[in-house]
Amino acid sequence: MKTNTSSFEYNVFDYNELSDAQKELVDHARKATYRSYAPYSNFKVGAAILLSNGVIVDGANQENAAFSAGTCAERSACFYAGAEYPDAKFKAIAIAARDHTDDFIENPISPCGVCRQALLEYENKAGNPVEVLLIGRDKIYAVKSIRDLLPFAFSEF
Ligand code: THU
Repeated sequence: MKTNTSSFEYNVFDYNELSDAQKELVDHARKATYRSYAPYSNFKVGAAILLSNGVIVDGANQENAAFSAGTCAERSACFYAGAEYPDAKFKAIAIAARDHTDDFIENPISPCGVCRQALLEYENKAGNPVEVLLIGRDKIYAVKSIRDLLPFAFSEF
């Protein structure tokens, strides 16, 4: 038998330690939570994707009475970016959330498994790592790539 290990590094920042570009993306993600439609969960998620053409595309979770028809903030941003700017590469994504108290959640939010797989598609398409900024009330985790968040991702290539 052989044992393999898999691990990844991420940085933990205070907002003030971020670069101007990172701050702008974080601000977008936080603002996007106010465009969430979450009458069922009351969990308001915002995402912002920086593209290689300099555009920032925002997304917010959109829920539905038929629950499975709803979608996460990350995928709403990611599919819109792919549909509107098919030639642009994803560079970074920031994700924020507010809970039923309406305040931003204390611990940095982490994307669900389906969103990780969806985002990985665009990281592979871009051919460069896509930085992921996971936003908490005080701390922001900076992960270097989507792949770091999804070991053993499904891949057909
Ligand atoms: N949600 C997101 O938008 N992103 C995530 O990464 C996790 C969950 C949404 C889905 C649903 O509208 C609400 O949060 C509660 O799960």
